[in-house]
Amino acid sequence: MSVLLTGATGFLGMEVLTRLLDRDDDREIVAIVRATDSDRARERLDGVLRLLYDAPPASAARRLRAVPGDLCAEGLGLTPDDRRRVGDVTEVVHCAASISFSLPLAEALRVNVEGTRRVVSLARRLPRLRRLVHVSTAYVAGRHAGRFEERQLDVGQGFRNTYERSKHLAEVALRREARDLPLVVARPSIVVGDSTSGWTPAFNVLYWPLRAFHRGLLPRIPATPDGRLDIVPVDYVANALVRMLDDDVTGTLHLVSADRAITNRRLADLASRALDRPRPTLGPSDALERKGGEVYLPYLDVETSFDDRRARAALAPAGISAPAPEGYFDRLMAYAVRARWGRRPQTREQALAAAA
Ligand SMILES: NC(=O)c1ccc[n+]([C@@H]2O[C@H](COP(=O)([O-])OP(=O)(O)OC[C@H]3O[C@@H](n4cnc5c(N)ncnc54)[C@H](OP(=O)(O)O)[C@@H]3O)[C@@H](O)[C@H]2O)c1
Repeated sequence: MSVLLTGATGFLGMEVLTRLLDRDDDREIVAIVRATDSDRARERLDGVLRLLYDAPPASAARRLRAVPGDLCAEGLGLTPDDRRRVGDVTEVVHCAASISFSLPLAEALRVNVEGTRRVVSLARRLPRLRRLVHVSTAYVAGRHAGRFEERQLDVGQGFRNTYERSKHLAEVALRREARDLPLVVARPSIVVGDSTSGWTPAFNVLYWPLRAFHRGLLPRIPATPDGRLDIVPVDYVANALVRMLDDDVTGTLHLVSADRAITNRRLADLASRALDRPRPTLGPSDALERKGGEVYLPYLDVETSFDDRRARAALAPAGISAPAPEGYFDRLMAYAVRARWGRRPQTREQALAAAA
């Protein structure tokens, strides 16, 4: 039995990787990594292990295998040998994607739609496949105003950027081409650091305006006070994804804060307290654009709320639930400040030890 993971060098993929390595089983983990050959792919994974651990666990040498590949290459760029070697994969977690909000559409489609279709064709050739987990995003809902349910996909929504559109189209392709596979589509909202330690290797998305605010560069933020900001900590999302490998659940699950999502007004309060800065004013301002953060503007007036009934029913029995942001936001900011917003990072292991 083995698990195939894409995106292990990314924020969410490395959290899935560490959980697969830390669990007590002998399943091989095959990570498809962008690299020219298997030595380079292994070096890249070793780099990831250095972000996660002070010293890599023995399981990494024993069970982790790096396979060079690319979502944009025919057959994922796997050699015939690698293709044969993945023959006994039983579970696939497809985490890799381009998360850039500003890629030209054709490029975003190439990675996020065509890449996903290639993962599906590989999965289809795995004779022992039990589970295919596709990591999507709750923002396939685009600009839909109101409640968005897990079963919904096309509600006539428009999209904020090529990222949302391409992730939406990836799901459309899955509904057409993978309906006979044991597929789970996981739709996280905005993923932030670990709820216990605050650890994150990625200081993008929400962290970008928060860092500018911390530096005193955003005293006024062009956000709608009642705009909804649905964030989830990475430990919740990664625990849920790993759980989906074992569970019998199929279909689409929202990994979101749902009714506990905060508003921009509440975020301003939390950020002001955690970062010890005067509360920012919310209202029209070109400050974000002037600082180069225009890609985040469309997320400052979100009118979507996400329904997560299916996810709660599937995950609650395993004790996995999304904590309320108020309970961990201070820890996110404490780590961000300690790590100087990415300039002085700790390993995941150090951050967890500090939190304990
Ligand atoms: N972060 C969030 O807030 C969030 C929220 C909702 C959903 N998601 C979804 O979660 C998944 C992971 O996101 P993330 O935040 O972990 O992103 P990330 O940190 O940017 O990681 C993306 C991963 O995808 C890999 N990748 C990109 N293009 C590739 C290609 N052509 N071939 C092979 N691998 C490629 C990257 O490899 P390289 O290291 O080689 O670039 C990296 O490992 C994505 O599907 C994303 O849509 C993320």
